[in-house]
Formats: sequence, structure tokens, C-alpha cells
Amino acid sequence: MSVKTIAVIGAGTMGRGIAHAAAFGRYNTVLEDISRPMLEQAVAWIRQSFDEGVAKGKVEASVRDKALSLISTASNVEEAIRDADLIIEAVPEELEMKLELFTIFDKFAKTGTIFASNTSSLSITDFTDVTVSRDRCIGMHFFNPVPKMKLIELVRTPHTSDATVAACREVAGRMGKEVVIVNEAPGFITTRINALIGNEAFNMLEAGVASPEDIDKALKLGLNHPMGPFELVDLVGLDVRLNILEYLHRTLGEKYRPNSLLRQYVQEGRLGRKTGRGVYDYSQQSAAEKKA
Ligand SMILES: NC(=O)c1ccc[n+]([C@@H]2O[C@H](COP(=O)([O-])OP(=O)(O)OC[C@H]3O[C@@H](n4cnc5c(N)ncnc54)[C@H](O)[C@@H]3O)[C@@H](O)[C@H]2O)c1
Repeated sequence: MSVKTIAVIGAGTMGRGIAHAAAFGRYNTVLEDISRPMLEQAVAWIRQSFDEGVAKGKVEASVRDKALSLISTASNVEEAIRDADLIIEAVPEELEMKLELFTIFDKFAKTGTIFASNTSSLSITDFTDVTVSRDRCIGMHFFNPVPKMKLIELVRTPHTSDATVAACREVAGRMGKEVVIVNEAPGFITTRINALIGNEAFNMLEAGVASPEDIDKALKLGLNHPMGPFELVDLVGLDVRLNILEYLHRTLGEKYRPNSLLRQYVQEGRLGRKTGRGVYDYSQQSAAEKKA
């Protein structure tokens, strides 16, 4: 299986980063989003990311120019996937939405196309069992921000063929990423461990064991984590983390029961940097700092 064209469905936080990586890997890259403004923002973001890379001396100007020339947009899913050898789905973490898209992929993609999902927690078979091409379905779990993060978890289902895994491994290599292979399980490796660490941090905060600042400091300086669990959840979104924990609780059991303080913060609208307040208060910060 030789991949030449990659379609990325969903141009939000992850989809635009994946399109950036695909173009960087010299693939014809077609980006699509149900929202036109989102698609336009995504293309501007990709251009800006490449420009910043060039300004910092990390990307050659010729690499940027080539990558940007390879990116196009499509106005609907059928058009986006028509010539794709690999489709990477990056729409919100909702099973129904993914089910619907994989049904469309199966109906309209050309024979032999690989269908990948960037889901961060769902079991791939929950929405790939609808396709007749189950051997060509796989999880490709990228990390945020995609241009900077080196890992892709390749999640293989019991039906995923070796050829599919090999093709995705090659794509990851050209994108400049490393892979780990995970046999399908909710939360894979990283989301599952991260959810437990993050939940335990909330358990400790709720029990008054230490302040958020000291819990974050302890994990950074004592355990060498690059970010503390509260800094991280504020970046990812408390609502996103709660959804993941609820799913892991349903599928893997009691150990993953979401902490009640986390639930309370979400109910209060304290969703993290994106709402100006999560565990920490960002209301006094500039727009640029909130995004950082
Ligand atoms: N944000 C993260 O840190 C992160 C990390 C790894 C994986 N993920 C996973 O990646 C996926 C996307 O997450 P995100 O954070 O980029 O979400 P997001 O909300 O930023 O972007 C999703 C995009 O999908 C678009 N969309 C919705 N329905 C669509 C449809 N039917 N067709 C085309 N586009 C559609 C939306 O308009 C939006 O632009 C989720 O499955 C999430 O779990 C997220």
C-alpha cells in the first residue's frame, strides 16, 4: 500500500495539526471541515506554523513552500476522500459522529483506502465494525500540538492487517514521528495512564493533601513530568478530561470513576484556559498567554 494523498476530516485543534504533519511529510493533503470558517482558520494556522518554523530556523523555506503547495481544502467529505489513500478522521469525540463518517468513508472512498481515526479514547471497533474494510481501519492517535509532539499511537484492532500497520508506520516516519503499536483497548496507553494521574491529582486536591501549585511542582521536579497534571488539564480542557474518564469508567471499571471536584468545576464552566478559568485562573492573562 503506497500512500500519496491524505484526507483529514475535521480541521479543529488536531485536524489542522495533522494536515500540517501530512504536508510536511510531502503528501498531497486535503483538509475538510463541516464549518467553513474553521477550515479557513485552519489553513491560516498551518501557514503561520510553517512561517514560525522558518523564522526560528527549524524548517527550511523550501520545505515550507513545498508543504503549503500540497495542501488543498474540500467542501464536503465525499469530495475530500475521493482520491485519498489514507483518511484521518479528527472530528469531536462523539461515537455517533464517527460512526456516520466511517459509513461515508466505506461508501465513497476508493478501493484500498486506509481509514484512520484520531480518537483519544474510544475503542476503534465501536465505529469501524460498520465498514466492510475492517482490515484497513486503524487508530492513529496524534498529540497536541501535533507539529511539536513526536509520538503517534497506532491502534490496531483484531481485524487490522499488517499491511495497514506498515503503511501507517511509513506515513508516521515521513511526518517525522515515532510510533508505538497498541492492541485495541479503551484509552490506549497514554490516555489511560494520563486519565488516572489527572484524576488522582484531583482526588488529592479534594482531600486537601496539597495545593494545585505544589502538586504540579512535585510532578515536574520530582517525577520529571514536563507539565503538572493541573497545568495539563487546563490546557486539554476539564470537560474533555471528564468525558474521557466517564468513558473509561464505563468500559474499564471503578478505578476510573471521575473525581467529584473535577465534575463540579465542569458544571461551573471552569473548563480550563479556553474559558479563562480551570484549576487556575487565567482571567488576567492576555489572549496569547491563554493559548500558550
Ligand atoms: N485536543 C486534543 O488535545 C486531542 C488530542 C488527541 C486526540 N484528540 C481527538 O481528536 C479528535 C478531534 O479533537 P479536536 O480537539 O481537534 O476537536 P475540535 O473540536 O478542535 O475540532 C473538531 C472539528 O471537527 C469539525 N467537525 C464536526 N463534525 C464534522 C463532520 N461531520 N465533518 C467534518 N468536520 C466536522 C468541527 O467543526 C471542528 O472544527 C477527537 O476525537 C479527540 O478526542 C484530541
